[in-house]
Order: sequence, then C-alpha cells, then structure tokens
Amino acid sequence: MAKIGNIDVGDFPLLLAPMEDVSDPPFRALCKEQGADVVYTEFISSEGLIRDAAKSTMKLDIYEKERPVGIQIFGANLDSMLQSVEIVEKSGPDIIDINFGCPVKKVVSKGAGAGILKDIDLMVSLTKAMVENTKLPITVKTRLGWDHDSIKIVEVAERLQDVGCQAISIHGRTRAQMYKGEADWNPIAEVKNNPRMHIPVFGNGDVDSPERAVKMRDRYGLDGAMIGRASIGYPWFFREVKHYFETGEHMAPPTLEERVDAARRHLQMAIDWKGEKLGVFETRRHYTNYFKGIPHFKEYRMKMVTSDDSKDVFAAFDEVEKEFAGYEFA
Ligand SMILES: Cc1cc2nc3c(=O)[nH]c(=O)nc-3n(C[C@H](O)[C@H](O)[C@H](O)COP(=O)(O)O)c2cc1C
Repeated sequence: MAKIGNIDVGDFPLLLAPMEDVSDPPFRALCKEQGADVVYTEFISSEGLIRDAAKSTMKLDIYEKERPVGIQIFGANLDSMLQSVEIVEKSGPDIIDINFGCPVKKVVSKGAGAGILKDIDLMVSLTKAMVENTKLPITVKTRLGWDHDSIKIVEVAERLQDVGCQAISIHGRTRAQMYKGEADWNPIAEVKNNPRMHIPVFGNGDVDSPERAVKMRDRYGLDGAMIGRASIGYPWFFREVKHYFETGEHMAPPTLEERVDAARRHLQMAIDWKGEKLGVFETRRHYTNYFKGIPHFKEYRMKMVTSDDSKDVFAAFDEVEKEFAGYEFA
C-alpha cells in the first residue's frame, strides 16, 4: 500500500500526470471517475502566483470530487517558491508537487523545471525549505538527470527524501532527451532498490498500454505509475489498466454512448468552471479526441470545434449519438 504522507493512495496507484493545458479540473474529474488514484494540476508558475496573475491563480481551482489532488508549482527562486506555497495552501490541495522536470527552454533558462538538475544542491535546499514551510506533503516530479553523462538520480532521490520529500515521480528521460527515444525505467528501479529509500517511487514515461503498466509494477518493482499522454482524449485508460491488473484481460473500449456522455460532461464542467465562452473554446481540443476512429466524422468534428455557442456543440453530440449508435470501436 503506497502512502504519500498520511494519504493512502492504494496498491500500485495510477497517477494522472501534470500536463499543461490538459490536466484541468474537468479532465481531472473524468480521469478520477475512470480510476486515477491521484491527480495533479498542470504546472503553475511561482512567479505568476506571487504577481497574482489571473492565468496562474485560475489554475489553482480544485474540486472535492478529485481528491487526492496535488497542485504542481515551478520556479527556482526560494522566496517566490515559499510565497507560492502559502498561496497554494489556500486552495486546499492534498499535496504540493514541485516540478523539477520541465524541459522547455523558457523554463529551463531561468533555472527552473529540469534546469535545476544542473544544481542539485539548490534542488535539495528548495525542497527542504518548502517542506519546512507547510504541513502538506511535498512531492517532487523530475527526470533522470540533465543529460546522459550526469545521471545521479539515485543520490538525488535519497537527498530529497532526507529533507522530507514524501514521494518522487521520475520520468525516465533526461532533459537532453526532451521527449525523444524511449523512457528508460532502469534508473528508476535503481532508485526504488536503494535500501535507504522508503518513500514511494512512481515511474513515468511511455506507460501506454496495460501491459506496460504491469511491467512497471512487476518487472521494475515501482510503487505506482504516473500516466500522461495515454490519457489525453482517453480518460478510460485508467480503468482499462485496472481491469487488466484484476483479470489479465483487455477491457472492451468505451462505447459510443460513454464517449458522448464524457464529451457532454466535459463541456458542461468546463462551462461551469470557466463560463460559456472560455468553456466552449478551451474544451474543443479535448473532446474531439473522444471520437477518434469514427470514419467520416469531419462534419461533426467541424461543428464541435467551430461553434461558439454551447447549444450547437451539445446538438452536435446528440447528432453523433444518433448517427453512430452502436458503432464498434477497435
Ligand atoms: C501536453 C503535455 C503537457 C505537459 N505538462 C507538464 C506539466 O505541466 N508538468 C510536468 O511536470 N510535466 C508535464 N508534462 C510531462 C508529463 O507529465 C509526463 O512526464 C510526460 O508526458 C511523460 O509521460 P507519458 O509518456 O505518460 O506521457 C507534459 C506533457 C505533455 C504531453
């Protein structure tokens, strides 16, 4: 049974990865319903938070139904990170996660995200200060190292644990790899096999089938799997993995009715959260994925992604439900 601080997250939990513009409240709620055991917000800039930038503070919104939920923040400045901890606490998350893994230039160039992998002492001291500044569990998400020649993740994880980090999620790539090549789970297993480690070690990177999740659990012996891209447009991935864990068999893909229902609810939750205009606009890229694979779908997709009025989008969902009733997804 894995525990993050005092939070029981079950046996080999599945965690929804923090993903910019993806892991928002409606999507997190859908993933949670489909079996995600822990969900994370997208990364939120500590500098944005302390400037009270509306875009950053909106990302702090969390809902009871998604718990346990972690809010992820990034930054490299101690004062800003400590101030953000205070701001984040007011939203009542269960966990605060620090992003030490984002590879994009504009983050890394400021020494934040994966940029901190060049300064492990700073990484450790920032984590320590944050742990000391809150009663909430602090967790870390990071990569194997800056580049192939500087992988020291076993030592890094141990140092983070020693300053009070309560769980670590490791993406099996270096910063230099960005998203290229295959994630290497061997160094993550080395972290787990370090006899001094007692906090949960979650594996991340390329868990794109139930079989891969089983491999991460049984062959690599990790404490849970953090899942990103496989869930985009497909929140059912979580239940499919769990079904496979329980039965050793693949679950049938979601029916058309389930997909329409998810699309409707996704849109409605987005409108309830952000209002009609932004709700309609920002949900477009999500729910069209729910219907991937249906042939001759363009006409309906166009209605979904070009209508500004939610009534028209809901009407398109109704049409799809009628037109493709009983469609069998591969
Ligand atoms: C669209 C997108 C946005 C992402 N945004 C974040 C983020 O905000 N914070 C973070 O720690 N990682 C972010 N990541 C990285 C993922 O959390 C994850 O580490 C990575 O996608 C590898 O896992 P996967 O193979 O299961 O997708 C993002 C990835 C994608 C694809």
